[in-house]
Amino acid sequence: MSRKVKISAPGKIILSGEHAVVYGYPAILASAGCRLKVEIAPSKKDLEIISRHGGKLVEYGLKKAAQALREKTDIKLRIEIDSEIPVGSGMGSSAALAVAITAAFFKFKKLPWDLEKINSIGYEIEKKQHGNPSDGDNTIATYGGFLWFRKESEKQKIFSPIKIEKKLPRLFLIDTGMPKESTKEMVSLVRSFYNQHKRKVEKIFLEMEKVTKAFLRYVLKEERTPFQDLLRENELLLERLGVVSSSTRQIIRGIEELGGAAKISGAGGKKGGSGIILAYHKNPDRLLSFAARRNLDIFSVKLGEEGVKVE
Ligand code: MEV
Repeated sequence: MSRKVKISAPGKIILSGEHAVVYGYPAILASAGCRLKVEIAPSKKDLEIISRHGGKLVEYGLKKAAQALREKTDIKLRIEIDSEIPVGSGMGSSAALAVAITAAFFKFKKLPWDLEKINSIGYEIEKKQHGNPSDGDNTIATYGGFLWFRKESEKQKIFSPIKIEKKLPRLFLIDTGMPKESTKEMVSLVRSFYNQHKRKVEKIFLEMEKVTKAFLRYVLKEERTPFQDLLRENELLLERLGVVSSSTRQIIRGIEELGGAAKISGAGGKKGGSGIILAYHKNPDRLLSFAARRNLDIFSVKLGEEGVKVE
């Protein structure tokens, strides 16, 4: 009988290009220093899932992985999920789960470790959760680091690791509250906006592409625009897309008034919070005291961590 296996996959942030990436524009994705762990062990009982969230998604993921690999699922397993990634906050928790459960199944079945396959099965699982995702979230959970990602068509996605030459400044994540909408709903909200005002939305995407390329040049030491200006420009474009709620906009304006900058990361949220925001201030104490005054959770974040791995 196979032994116990433990796999982890990272959460993510999007430095630039969320939503636009669904329409074939580029995005820069980075893995974050918080991880989701999946442990699979043989069990005497039928499938037993221990998870604070997404038991159904775990079961679906397992079935999908088994199907794709033409392996049996009628095995008695105990699956335990332990995650540091906030759920429904734009940090790719479902993608990390999809990738980690697939990779754990690979390892449990002693199949050769194949990142390309793990990623493509992870994508199929993500579709169940997000409808029409770009493929970006599972790709960064699989490969980690910093990725330049572009979906040219459903079958042709281009991504390449970015070799960071200029370290990013110290960045923080601030929790603006859980969005009332799912990623799927936010993606379809942008879709309706796009269908109604195609030229207007394409203009926003084109501007977004310019900012994404400027971010790329920034980390390659080819750009002079200060980091915080890029962050601000990016956020304003996301606001024009209608994916940032008024309470989140207020928080971000507050940070800007202090001389800092912040942007949402991921699908955003319109009615309640907009998930986590990526925040910068040249004097981090200003951000910390801002968050404390407003009773907002704030964390320092490390980016560019390893992708899916055996623990
Ligand atoms: C979600 O993390 C990012 C979106 O661009 C959707 C996607 O890429 O699938 C909003």
